[in-house]
Amino acid sequence: MCTMQARIISRNSIGHVMQSIPKRSPLTTADAIEAIDPPYHAPAYKSTVLRSPRETLLPMPAALKSLQAPVYGFGEVRPQDADLTRQHKAEPLGERIIVAGRLMDEDGQPIPNALIEIWQANAAGRYIHKGDQHSAPLDPNFSGTGRMLTDAEGNYRFVSIKPGAYPWRNHANAWRPAHIHFSLFGLGYLSRLVTQMYFPGDPLLPLDPIFNSVPSEEGRRALVSRFDLDLTEPEWALGYRFDIVLRGAGATPMEK
Ligand SMILES: [Fe+2]
Repeated sequence: MCTMQARIISRNSIGHVMQSIPKRSPLTTADAIEAIDPPYHAPAYKSTVLRSPRETLLPMPAALKSLQAPVYGFGEVRPQDADLTRQHKAEPLGERIIVAGRLMDEDGQPIPNALIEIWQANAAGRYIHKGDQHSAPLDPNFSGTGRMLTDAEGNYRFVSIKPGAYPWRNHANAWRPAHIHFSLFGLGYLSRLVTQMYFPGDPLLPLDPIFNSVPSEEGRRALVSRFDLDLTEPEWALGYRFDIVLRGAGATPMEK
C-alpha cells in the first residue's frame, strides 16, 4: 500500500474495513489531505529547517506493527477466517485450541465491530515466512493467519492450533514461549494495538526478554491468557480466554 493510500485510510473509520477500496482513489481526497497537512519543510517555521529531510526518502519495508491498514486486506471477513484449522484440505497437526475474549476500552465498555487479525507459528514452532529458517517442519494444512470482527458486545472467538516454541538467536539457547500475535483496530485505524498473547504455565515465560520487557507484573499478567474450562469443548479443544483493553491505565501492553 502506498503512503498516500495509508494516509487516506488512517483518516477513515473502522466501518470501512468491509468496503472494497479502489487501488487508486481519485486524487480529490488526497489533494484535500495535502491541503490539510503542513509540509515537512516550512522555512518560516524554523525548526522544520533542521528536521525536514533534504534527500529523496528511501522506501523502507513497513513493519507489521507500524501499518495503519489491515494486514490481510479489505476483503470481506468470512467465518472460515476465524478457524485456522479449516483453511486447507485437511486439518493441521497439533493441539486444537479455542481462543476467545472481549475487546474493551479504558472504561470497560465493549468495542463492537473491531477488526482483529492474528498470526502464529504452527505446532512445530515454524512460520510460513522466508525469514523463518527454523528446521522444524511446515504444515501444508496450516497457514497460521486469521481474522475476525468483534460482535456487538465486543466478543471475539477463533479456533486454531497451539503454537510451538521456536528458537530466535537473541542470546544463547533463546526460545520464544508459545504465543499468538494480535493486531487490533479500535474505533479507527489510528487506535491500533499490536501485541502477543501467551499461554499460562509456559516455562519459557520467565526467560523471554520480549515478555519481560513489559515493566509491570500487572502488564505481563495481562498478556497471558487463562485456561477456561467453560470455553473448553469436550473431546474437541481446550479453551483459553484473553481479554484485551485498548487504552487507559489498564491497557493491554502493546509493542512499540
Ligand atoms: Fe512470533
